[in-house]
Amino acid sequence: MKHKNLIDLEYMTIDELEQTIRLAGVIKQRPDVYKHACDGKIMATLFYEPSTRTQMSFQTAMMRLGGKTIGFDNPMNSSVAKGENLKDTISVVSSYSDIIAMRHPTEGSAKAASLYSDVPLINCGDGGHFHPTQTLTDVVTLNFEKGRLNNLKIGLCGDLLNGRTVHSLIKTMSHFEGNSFVLISTKELTVPQYIKDILDNANCPYEEINNLKDAISNLDVLYMTRIQRERFATEEEYEKQKGVFVLDIDKLKLAKKDMIILHPLPRVDEIAIEVDDDPRACYFKQAEYGMYGRMALIVLLLRAEGSFLFELPDPIISTEHKCSNPKCITNDPQQFYLPKNFYDKNGRMFCDYCDYEV
Ligand code: CP
Repeated sequence: MKHKNLIDLEYMTIDELEQTIRLAGVIKQRPDVYKHACDGKIMATLFYEPSTRTQMSFQTAMMRLGGKTIGFDNPMNSSVAKGENLKDTISVVSSYSDIIAMRHPTEGSAKAASLYSDVPLINCGDGGHFHPTQTLTDVVTLNFEKGRLNNLKIGLCGDLLNGRTVHSLIKTMSHFEGNSFVLISTKELTVPQYIKDILDNANCPYEEINNLKDAISNLDVLYMTRIQRERFATEEEYEKQKGVFVLDIDKLKLAKKDMIILHPLPRVDEIAIEVDDDPRACYFKQAEYGMYGRMALIVLLLRAEGSFLFELPDPIISTEHKCSNPKCITNDPQQFYLPKNFYDKNGRMFCDYCDYEV
């Protein structure tokens, strides 16, 4: 049977997402029941980019389920340093392991890797594209801390252009009734148009503003993000954006007593350290809850037997089209072998790897 891969949270139906959240709650309550769920199984964690939470929470999740882990956290310590391409690394590692968790700096790399994996592959971040298990972490946290995923006014603040976790969270939360969004950023770092289109199509109210102080008093959730230095073309452009939004105690005084503060972490300077002691600061708990979400995901993927995660239609193979996203894996000369896969959505063609319109 064909195995399933988690490339984006959109690969899950809302029912499957709710099933995963429920299981995360059960595992948190009764970890003893699941401590042998993955006995004899091996997870490979392939991290081509730095990570603390995603990598270690997957490793911890697998070990707490009774499984074992292999992998690298610096590709320069693997044969990638000798020029091995993604296809060869994945083909080999999937013969050593039962499930792969991979982070890679290039957009579309997770989809590309999944073509050569004989085991389920989980996208742990592919450049600025998707980071589905962070969104899983976020929704598990909302469920644990707010008790619901609907009727929430969610403020997202910081780098809304480059923040893949922001895009993914907005997409997911727009499926639940009664949610609205306040998008707080400079004009240079607003969410991309396709995210606004998603909100419009879902009839989800949103406003865009550039002042955190003006927005904070009405929010149920404040999702802070760091300005993503590594995604800027020049240091000068980054310098203009850094430090614009800082959540401190004075601003927090204006917030509701039951507002919660989330942050995917790592933090740079956008949340003052003094905020950590406020009971509304949930970002360290969020990192812990992510481990339960990932434990649930591993259990469901390894148990799936085809029933968990739906299959996308086969892509259109076209030699006439080329992805115009310079950050796409198909434009990396080392990955020249990748089939030229696209998909059609309402008469428009999109790259099957990075979802860029061509
Ligand atoms: N939130 C997140 O992805 O953290 P890491 O980069 O440390 O994995």
